[in-house]
Amino acid sequence: MDNDNRFVTGLDVGTENVRAVIASVNKSGEIAIVGYNEGKSAGMRKGVPANLAGPAGSIDQMLGDAERMGGYDVRSAYVSINGSTVISTHTEGMIAVGTVEHEINDEDLDRVEGVAVSGRIPANRDVLDVVPLEYALDGQGGIKDPLGMSGARLEMRANVISALTPNCENLKKATSAADVHAERLIPSVVAAAKAVLTERQKENGVAVVDFGAATTSVAVYEEGDLQYVGVVPAGSNNITNDLAIVLAIDPGLAEEIKTRFVTGNFDTDKSPVIKIGREGKDERVFDRKEVEEVVKARLDEIFGEIRKKLKSAKYDQRLPEGIVLVGGGAKMRDIDLFAKKSLEAAVKIGTPKGLGGVSDAIEKPEFAAAAGLAMLAAESAQYTAPTSKKSSKSAKTPKSGSGPVGLIKKIFSKF
Ligand SMILES: Nc1ncnc2c1ncn2[C@@H]1O[C@H](COP(=O)(O)OP(=O)(O)OP(=O)(O)O)[C@@H](O)[C@H]1O
Ligand SMILES: [Mg+2]
Repeated sequence: MDNDNRFVTGLDVGTENVRAVIASVNKSGEIAIVGYNEGKSAGMRKGVPANLAGPAGSIDQMLGDAERMGGYDVRSAYVSINGSTVISTHTEGMIAVGTVEHEINDEDLDRVEGVAVSGRIPANRDVLDVVPLEYALDGQGGIKDPLGMSGARLEMRANVISALTPNCENLKKATSAADVHAERLIPSVVAAAKAVLTERQKENGVAVVDFGAATTSVAVYEEGDLQYVGVVPAGSNNITNDLAIVLAIDPGLAEEIKTRFVTGNFDTDKSPVIKIGREGKDERVFDRKEVEEVVKARLDEIFGEIRKKLKSAKYDQRLPEGIVLVGGGAKMRDIDLFAKKSLEAAVKIGTPKGLGGVSDAIEKPEFAAAAGLAMLAAESAQYTAPTSKKSSKSAKTPKSGSGPVGLIKKIFSKF
């Protein structure tokens, strides 16, 4: 195997599940998935660590198999961050750059970005990404890439993604306790978008909704840029809990009802009862109407909140490419039908696409975030020289991808 290959890892630390995707990336940037795994998560509440030992233990345990499969010892990873403190703030900055003949350089871009960010984001927040949306030179706007252009006054409009500093620090500590350095924290829905969206969709206008266990998050793209991120602190586990409470059953049974018998299509005629267990032995019978009422009420609430977020960002009913659903919650049968009605937009289920190697196994909506994190890490690892586009901070010199260790290299060369 080509020794110039680098290895990268995406680590999605969810409330219910932790997932990893290990990929190799060659000189031309081609990505091959070499390892993956998923496992139960512990110590996470609504997308953020509630303690350090729980997530550290689950990451450590889950990574073992992914590492053996990939023949690679994971030391660092791109890690997902989630929770309702992940927000996007639109800011503006302006700087004087000298005379009209001055050509805009990287330093100017850094300076205007600094102005756009400093003082606009509260001190207890970590800036996760600064997405330049538009530049203006001497009052003339609509400029995407001002590098090399002339002007005396440079303005920038940006979307700054941030999260509460303690959440970021605790997540880094938890991964570090599992011997994994968190190179970058990326909102899980933004990572998922990387894996499931095409450039064309992002250009035309599209949203990704990550329907997780305890959170449901949304990311909106237009003109190729990430315009908005928002997280609703409720997810598919809320459906399970509601069923457990209303039907007075244990959560395990409620989960079985949800995953086996509930669909997002509440309009079709179905059997009036749901039967679980062996007839005449341990069979339990539930009234389907009652079950559906509980599920629909929670789905209405969650998707209603997502719609409110889209509205507040001025994207409600304004997305030509519609909505792409990912996350474990998106596995509910016909959930796309429900989401289509609720959000009044075209809805598809998104799975990671366009990856080589053992990618078939991760072509599932719940693997979108981990796959996207690996793809973002791969882009960064492959990045060598500055391009003309000074865009989001994802295009930075790699700190990552420490190559495979000796023994592992040998195992790997057998492939
Ligand atoms: N077939 C299914 N039908 C309905 N729901 C499902 C199905 N399979 C999984 N789920 C639900 O998906 C959820 C888990 O999704 P996921 O793994 O994306 O969550 P997470 O990333 O751990 O959580 P979060 O992103 O909120 O922190 C659980 O609530 C689970 O019940
Ligand atoms: Mg998740």
